[in-house]
Amino acid sequence: MNPLRSSVLSALLLPGVVVVGTRVGLPVLAMATLRLSSSSSFFAYQQQKVGLTAPQRPPSSFASPPPSPPLVVCSIPDRHHLPSSHSSAEASSGRISLGFCTRQQSWNRNLAVVAAAASVTEVGGGGSSSTISREEVVREDDPTNNVPDTVFGKIGLQLHNRESHPLGILKNAIYSYFDETFPGVFHKVDNLLPIVSVKANFDDVLTPPDHVSRSYNDTYYVNADTVLRCHTSAHQAELLRQGLTHFLVTGDVYRRDAIDATHYPVFHQMEGLRLFTQQEWEAAGMDGTALAAQELKKTLEGLARHLFGDVQMRWVDTYFPFTDPSYELEIFFQGKWMEVLGCGVTQQQILCNNGCAGTTAWAFGLGLERLAMVLFDIPDIRLFWSNDSRFTSQFKSGQLGTKFKSFSKYPPCYKDISFWISEEFSENNLCEIVRGIAGDLVEEVVLIDEFTNPKKGKTSHCYRIAYRSMERSLTDDEINALQAEVRQQVEGKLKITLR
Ligand code: DAH
Repeated sequence: MNPLRSSVLSALLLPGVVVVGTRVGLPVLAMATLRLSSSSSFFAYQQQKVGLTAPQRPPSSFASPPPSPPLVVCSIPDRHHLPSSHSSAEASSGRISLGFCTRQQSWNRNLAVVAAAASVTEVGGGGSSSTISREEVVREDDPTNNVPDTVFGKIGLQLHNRESHPLGILKNAIYSYFDETFPGVFHKVDNLLPIVSVKANFDDVLTPPDHVSRSYNDTYYVNADTVLRCHTSAHQAELLRQGLTHFLVTGDVYRRDAIDATHYPVFHQMEGLRLFTQQEWEAAGMDGTALAAQELKKTLEGLARHLFGDVQMRWVDTYFPFTDPSYELEIFFQGKWMEVLGCGVTQQQILCNNGCAGTTAWAFGLGLERLAMVLFDIPDIRLFWSNDSRFTSQFKSGQLGTKFKSFSKYPPCYKDISFWISEEFSENNLCEIVRGIAGDLVEEVVLIDEFTNPKKGKTSHCYRIAYRSMERSLTDDEINALQAEVRQQVEGKLKITLR
């Protein structure tokens, strides 16, 4: 098939799809889009559900994990220049009071996490420190809090700031692209505290009040006004107010989600934003939105080529509350269409509300794990969190795309659990319980059977839980104990009836 025909066909078959790139011979009809986790489609996809699901509070009995020691976040004197209001002052000012966390607080780049536990680890060390205690983030008796210990334990780990970690390598490769294409222009921020206000996470980027992404089922709330950011877009407004005109923000983001090889409740995103002035669009002989859209596409196509080589790409029209028009960029990689990022022309209201009236802007958000999984051939998202040297030693700073060699494949063990659900049942709550008990030993939770008994008017779900360690063989006794605990907690906390 010639390239022209290929693109025409795609455009006809998939409204809103524009094909760029010239690779020939693709079976257009058979193209399926590979959707991985860390997806920028979260907000796009949520649009379809707007209004269907009212924000849900978690059942008050939802989380009752054992107490854990405070997290100490140590900052090392910053070697990298940050914008003035992102100086290390706040980071080094001692305890971060989450109760008043209505504005973003910054952390130094070289944060080190010191867990004041039996297994105390000090990474980096030195300098002053800020502490976040577990009690400030995980509040078991507060019905407006749904942060479990497993998630609290990830705050501060900053995988994206580890130079030899696949996520750090990928972040630096994206930085290199922007540095080469726009020397000295883009400001980089990668140390912002992931605990943000509801306003920053949702309101400032125009997420509608009834948008399902705000629900307790989808987002981790520290309290009614404070969340673990569910996207790096949470920092757009703040950085605009600080006067930044070109920036990249990288950080860990948190979402309540399913359990499988590509979903994990914590992952990493990079956000980019570039402003345009009236002078710029007049000089280009275009209107402001058209220039931003044109530059957006050119810049991101260049980024995709920088990371993936000479791939075929296509633009898919979509919806985000914060942009208009909005697009997703997909590339044809390893035989499938894969979504790379979400982006668009920033809503005027965001610019006006944050001191940038009279400008236009493009913005994008991309999930680092989803790209790193394909670039480094990493088969399971849990591996990113592994400290096993058989994983960590395979990657070197600056080497994008080293192919991961599986060091072992231990056998999985499957356990089924069936129950009658109640109206409040949510799969994310089930997954949270399983993760709370089994941690990274749980590989997947899949609904394998569902039926409704017409006489009783009750619906039954059967889930298959796959337990597998990436580092060792699990014993039967160990798995039976985990499964027994899962059954007990599911029954106690989810208002279901075990079958
Ligand atoms: N925040 C979006 C998400 O997490 C991704 C995104 C889409 C960011 C479009 C943007 C954007 O800045 O313009 O799903």
